[in-house]
Amino acid sequence: MKLNVSVNIVFFNVLATIFLSLGATRSVGQIKVQNMLIEHMANPIGVATVKPRFSWQLVSDKRNLLQTAYEIRVANDSSALFLGKALVWNSGRVFSDSSINVSFKGRSLQSGRRYYWQVRVWGNSGKVSDWSTPAFFQMAFLNSSDWKAKWIAPGFTEDSLRASPLFRKQFNSPRKIKSATAYITAHGLYEAQINGKRIGDAYLTPGWTSYHKRLQYQVYDVTDKVIQGENAIGITLGSGWYRSHMSWDNIPDSYGKDIALLFQLNILYDDGTTEQIISDESWKSSTAEIRYSEIYNGETIDSRKEKKGWNMAEFNDNDWSGVKVSRNAMNILVATVNEPVKKHETFKPVKILTTPKGEKVIDFGQNLVGWVVVKASGRNGDTIKINHAEVLDKLGNFYTTNLRSAKSENNYVLKGGGEQTFEPHFSWQGFRYIKISGYTGQLIPENFTAVALYSDMEPTGTFTTSNPLINQLQRNIEWGQKGNFLDVPTDCPQRDERLGWTGDAQVFSRTAFFLRNGNNFFAKWLKDLAADQSPNGKVPDVIPNVLNYPNGGATGWSDASTIIPWNLYLAYGDKRLLKEQYPSMKAWVRFMTDSSRNYIWANGFHYGDWLSYMLDNDLYGRSAVTDKYLIAQCFYAHSTQLLINTAKVLGKTKDVTDYQKLLVHIKDAFMREYVTGNGRLVSGTQTAYVLALNFDMLPIHLRKQAADRLVKNIRSYGNHITTGFLGTPYICQVLSRFGKTNVAYDLLLQESFPSWLYPVKMGATTIWERWNGIRPDGTFEPASMNSFNHYAYGAIGDWMYSQMVGLDIDENGPGYKKIKIQPHIGGNLTYATATHITPYGKLSSGWKVENGKLIIDSEIPANTTATIYIPANRADAVTEAGKSITKSKDIRVGKLRNGYLELQVGSGRYIFCGEWPLNTKKESR
Ligand code: BGC
Repeated sequence: MKLNVSVNIVFFNVLATIFLSLGATRSVGQIKVQNMLIEHMANPIGVATVKPRFSWQLVSDKRNLLQTAYEIRVANDSSALFLGKALVWNSGRVFSDSSINVSFKGRSLQSGRRYYWQVRVWGNSGKVSDWSTPAFFQMAFLNSSDWKAKWIAPGFTEDSLRASPLFRKQFNSPRKIKSATAYITAHGLYEAQINGKRIGDAYLTPGWTSYHKRLQYQVYDVTDKVIQGENAIGITLGSGWYRSHMSWDNIPDSYGKDIALLFQLNILYDDGTTEQIISDESWKSSTAEIRYSEIYNGETIDSRKEKKGWNMAEFNDNDWSGVKVSRNAMNILVATVNEPVKKHETFKPVKILTTPKGEKVIDFGQNLVGWVVVKASGRNGDTIKINHAEVLDKLGNFYTTNLRSAKSENNYVLKGGGEQTFEPHFSWQGFRYIKISGYTGQLIPENFTAVALYSDMEPTGTFTTSNPLINQLQRNIEWGQKGNFLDVPTDCPQRDERLGWTGDAQVFSRTAFFLRNGNNFFAKWLKDLAADQSPNGKVPDVIPNVLNYPNGGATGWSDASTIIPWNLYLAYGDKRLLKEQYPSMKAWVRFMTDSSRNYIWANGFHYGDWLSYMLDNDLYGRSAVTDKYLIAQCFYAHSTQLLINTAKVLGKTKDVTDYQKLLVHIKDAFMREYVTGNGRLVSGTQTAYVLALNFDMLPIHLRKQAADRLVKNIRSYGNHITTGFLGTPYICQVLSRFGKTNVAYDLLLQESFPSWLYPVKMGATTIWERWNGIRPDGTFEPASMNSFNHYAYGAIGDWMYSQMVGLDIDENGPGYKKIKIQPHIGGNLTYATATHITPYGKLSSGWKVENGKLIIDSEIPANTTATIYIPANRADAVTEAGKSITKSKDIRVGKLRNGYLELQVGSGRYIFCGEWPLNTKKESR
């Protein structure tokens, strides 16, 4: 069987090589096509959309490459593709510059079928590329009748701890196998094996969705696992999000008490016949070593109860129970859209210590999310207990109070007789430290490995500067994202929440999209947001919504429904996603309008500028509390503006007019209610001015004075930030926009509390929930709300990429079709550089100040254009690759304004050099 598969692959590769070399001999240009994606994924298996979209990237060693035409061809198999005969679809030569999200336009694609495709492109030089290396995609189930499997539940009564059930099925494959595909989902979480081999490398499958409305299934190519002859399928389930105790209220069974499996294996034999192995009444069930598993509390594994060989064909399952066939819904099954959770970095202990209390503790040096793989040997019945913590307290003792009711404890019972390896399956922890009890041997580093688990989104950003503290801040932002992008965007990964808080997600979204490709991750989550949204448009506080009380409608939280789709559109240019979310976006704005009187939205519960700077016993009124309704009015306007933008993109002209009228009313109401004649806001906080300026709430003539008031406020706090969740993402953006980048740098480089660098100085390896989670004297903020891994304040990452280095999206060309590069030099840095993998390819820029010169090195991906703003006060003082830019045929020199020279360029690398410092007093705009 294996032979068959590898023969296929070899054939495919041989064809590709012959084809490429043929192509090379008749090559007429330097254009190459690479990174071919379907629905933003490379060679995906399980595509459910009937008109999948194709994307590719162009590369060339020449500058100014734009695509003028493309041709796509799709075939049922690689040889047909190679010959260009019997094609499923040939787009023909299409004159277009589109190289991302190009829709399939052929006849219907078939359920479960694999297709091979290639593309070639024409460039503006008149040259044509070779046909690309072939890529493939495989369709998911397209019709509900494709599902033959039945839902099955354990055939025994579960014990009180709800030990993980095992399901088993033995079957015979009589003939030579050509391909085998497994379709799997569960109520709960599953880990599946065929003949003892794990299916796939995804964890915590099927992931978390609004289970009653949408349940994702995964599709796996298991051709290399099924053999001709006797086979066995073994599947273990865990309670997972489906029925673990969730939220601080510890509500069990959010989606139901039942745990169940749905499994289908479609086998295609060499002789063309097919067979399906499905979950049905013929399966067997039992329990084994996973005795307990809950998301917050951890897992208990008693290895004495292991059923050796249970996942192999030879196993005798006579004493196993049967299964119950259950009538769970089938019409909510959807193919998976987002990247699965996978194992990533591993960490070895950096320190093994005994605390003053006598606890045995291991420090992994990084606050991360995942689990620890433990190797141990001992006597039969010895129990090793592993507890998890993010921090040690002031005295150096193990501190878990901030986990609240989450036990985060794994227990491993040994069976004796040699070394054993343990790791949890359906529970994970947020930790830097573990405490070990019951370990009989000596604690040695080799026996403990921390593994980071997170959604396998493509890393798309790198960032580095001459300031090590800023670089550590950037790393902390990255780790905040890794730990909290675990199938859904969570607030925190450790205490009894780990929920998809909408506010946190929207606050961080722009930063997130620089660091990792968030297109599919958020496309999936936004579907759940729309699914859980109330008919009146109210968006719940957490998505999926597992809170057991009426919630939602909070300003800055529910706006995730408008802000995230728009940010996604800007970052990835995915118009279909905007179209799909449009009804949800509209419904949210309708909710705010319906809740308003005379266009003022001043009611309902709001979190406001959550966790802004606050003092106990605030004698001098220094706490930075912003009027919640002022904030609500700003976000009401902002969401309406985003709806206008979206309606324009979607060509909904009537909506554009209607919402524009609405926006005028909202802003007029804001002026009446919250602004004095001189432009002072009724709340004089940083957040109030930041939101009013960022969302254009004030008429142009009042903006400068507002920006000045903002600066005055910042100065009055000794250059400290006082914003909470809602003001933080925009404060430095607003400062740069109004020519006050120096103040933004003062905030960024501030090292004392409250500031971004204060936690860095305190040794943080992630972003903290609070500006002062650990106080300067080493004591903690109240444990009721003190996470050390909350990404919201990491939202400064957006400014660091887009302003400090200056890699930005030009809103007129979403998805980086048009790029804006405008570096902001300052903060005594000598260099700052970043790269970002855009849908068109790698974009990078960096600046360096050296010997009275400013060097800017930028690389623009093919099939895009960029406007680069070079700090300068004379065009003839700037050179590119050693020559005056005024003489370069590749650069169009534009206006000189506010200390920047505007240049238009096409793709390619440019190294500019100018004078530094500039002989000018003013900064931009
Ligand atoms: C979460 C937050 C969330 C908030 C609502 C908290 O418990 O951890 O990050 O946004 O509740 O204010």
